[in-house]
Amino acid sequence: MKTAIVYSSNHGTTAKVARRIQQGLGEDKTRLFNLKNVRRIDLSPYERVLIGGSIHAGSVQKRVRKFMDTHFHELLEKPLGLFLCCMDEQRAESEFENAFPEALRFHAISRKIIGGEFLFEKMNIIEKAMVKKVAGVESSVSKINDHKIDELVEEMNHAMEDER
Ligand SMILES: Cc1cc2nc3c(=O)[nH]c(=O)nc-3n(C[C@H](O)[C@H](O)[C@H](O)COP(=O)(O)O)c2cc1C
Repeated sequence: MKTAIVYSSNHGTTAKVARRIQQGLGEDKTRLFNLKNVRRIDLSPYERVLIGGSIHAGSVQKRVRKFMDTHFHELLEKPLGLFLCCMDEQRAESEFENAFPEALRFHAISRKIIGGEFLFEKMNIIEKAMVKKVAGVESSVSKINDHKIDELVEEMNHAMEDER
């Protein structure tokens, strides 16, 4: 029962979350795909797919959108999980809705907003200024919601059990 975890990450937080999900599902049963490093992904060996991205200036990464576009029909045929890293708690729900197409959101077994991090040491000068202005944050902060990661893992595992 192999699961592909496909993600994009600007400063490493979604990557960190993807690795935690991998640990939860079992390293031998999962493979991580960082969309920054892979050109094409063959999903055919994978029974399940998890897709994760993060929000920057209101939108999820283009790479994530492109992946979902390219594999749209295939994704609708496999059990799917969706997760999103973002820091604006007020806008999180609408950011999630904008990040993932409606058909995939409805099809997904599990959908989680995981929270995120502001990592000033990884930001360029423009990003630092933007985060200071928009979020009013002056130094690094981590708000990864481990409970949501556990829920995602549990819901995916549960769906796998049902299928057996
Ligand atoms: C320049 C910048 C812009 C951001 N814009 C938003 C935003 O519009 N909405 C939001 O909820 N979070 C926003 N965030 C928070 C990110 O989603 C958060 O830092 C996330 O953990 C990034 O994950 P990544 O390192 O995997 O890309 C922003 C962060 C940065 C650095």
